[in-house]
Amino acid sequence: MCVLGESRLEGYHGLAYRKLVEAGVNVGDTVEVSFGDESFVGRLMPRVESDDDSVVTIKLPNGYNIGLSVVDASVRLVSPAGGLHQQPPVEEAVGFGAGEYVALISTGGTIASRVEYETGAVRPALRASDLMSLVPELEGISRLKTQVLMSILSEDMKPAYWERIARAVYSELEAGAAGVVVAHGTDTMGYTAAALSFALRGVDRPIVLVGSQRSSDRPSSDAYTNLLCAVKFAKESFRPGVYVCMHASTSDPTCAVIPGVKVRKMHTSRRDAFKAVNTRPVAFVDRDKLVFLDESSKGYVVGGGVVFKPGFSDKAALIEYYPGFSLDILNWLAEKGYLGVVLAGTGLGHVSSELVDGIARLRRSGFLIYMTSQCLYGRVNMNVYTTGRRLLAAGVVPLGDMLPETAYVKLSWALANYPLEEVDGVMRSNLVGELSARSVYSGEWT
Ligand code: DGL
Repeated sequence: MCVLGESRLEGYHGLAYRKLVEAGVNVGDTVEVSFGDESFVGRLMPRVESDDDSVVTIKLPNGYNIGLSVVDASVRLVSPAGGLHQQPPVEEAVGFGAGEYVALISTGGTIASRVEYETGAVRPALRASDLMSLVPELEGISRLKTQVLMSILSEDMKPAYWERIARAVYSELEAGAAGVVVAHGTDTMGYTAAALSFALRGVDRPIVLVGSQRSSDRPSSDAYTNLLCAVKFAKESFRPGVYVCMHASTSDPTCAVIPGVKVRKMHTSRRDAFKAVNTRPVAFVDRDKLVFLDESSKGYVVGGGVVFKPGFSDKAALIEYYPGFSLDILNWLAEKGYLGVVLAGTGLGHVSSELVDGIARLRRSGFLIYMTSQCLYGRVNMNVYTTGRRLLAAGVVPLGDMLPETAYVKLSWALANYPLEEVDGVMRSNLVGELSARSVYSGEWT
């Protein structure tokens, strides 16, 4: 499929449509919108918000989309899309040599979707042609092979889907991708990043999860920058491991690349919502450069070899302790066949002392109980206060500076891949950087 030459004014109506047709402009072309002295030049984007039919959306050279009313403006074609779609669509492209391309797997979320406002339906937008019109600069960075693996909001993600994603990533690596980018909803992207970290331990190439806080067709979307940075890191970093790549700050066109087991969504809407917790990003990347914070670990792992264990159990739980928490909740989990729980306790790793005897009983019955901290920053230390010491004696296993979500994913993975009697040992070990010997001060949330 080649869209070169087709008339493309997706989503435009009324005045904006008429002015664009008169100017001979299609989506993807570079246009100038002039208001007397002031003018804006950028690439015409598809329009999806049809409530105002006098507005055109253009992508500025800095990557941000702006909406401009054309009521008092003139529109001029600066240059047609030209080579934008001249490559074969990447989802159909064949003959890529090993290491020549990045595989892009879409799972859904805002970054991978376009909302059709008339119907309310969301459809995947990760065909090669969609991507190239969203981020034309990708052509200069890497050849891409895309697939829509699933199309869900990430709150609907579950352990069985982590396995599907792990298998898809693994087969792309086996097929010779230089790196794999996984487009994902932001809400639970940290969980999936942790899941892939464990499932593909020892991977020798970059696996990069990317999302966006604002959809690609909205003004000031972060999709463009995030995708560009993720593909660049996947192709050019040669850094093995699983990472999340998202905006580093609210206004900067730079992304932070954060280890998949130490990353957390810390804000509901800011573009720089993802933070490294108890560690630092491994790199900052923008369209022109890739700066490692840790030069020593750059490069392929030679002779490492991936230990592919893609299974995840749905018999693990994650529970945040709160004043008034009842032992009934833990008893219920055990009765329902759950095999273990990660607690996000208070401070250094506490729950009410009233729970200690019940917790000891549960542990004796074989139910596994792990402790992390709801503080997130810092690490649990259950030797400081009496409650902590009593919980240790009751058999609760402390998990240092591991994030509660990472610990939960790890427990789900360990239960599916190891005999029950080995799970405590697995949980206590640092397998992929999830458990640091010493916590790193990683800055503070502002
Ligand atoms: N609920 C969201 C999700 O995680 C949609 C928005 C987003 O992608 O961030 O899929």
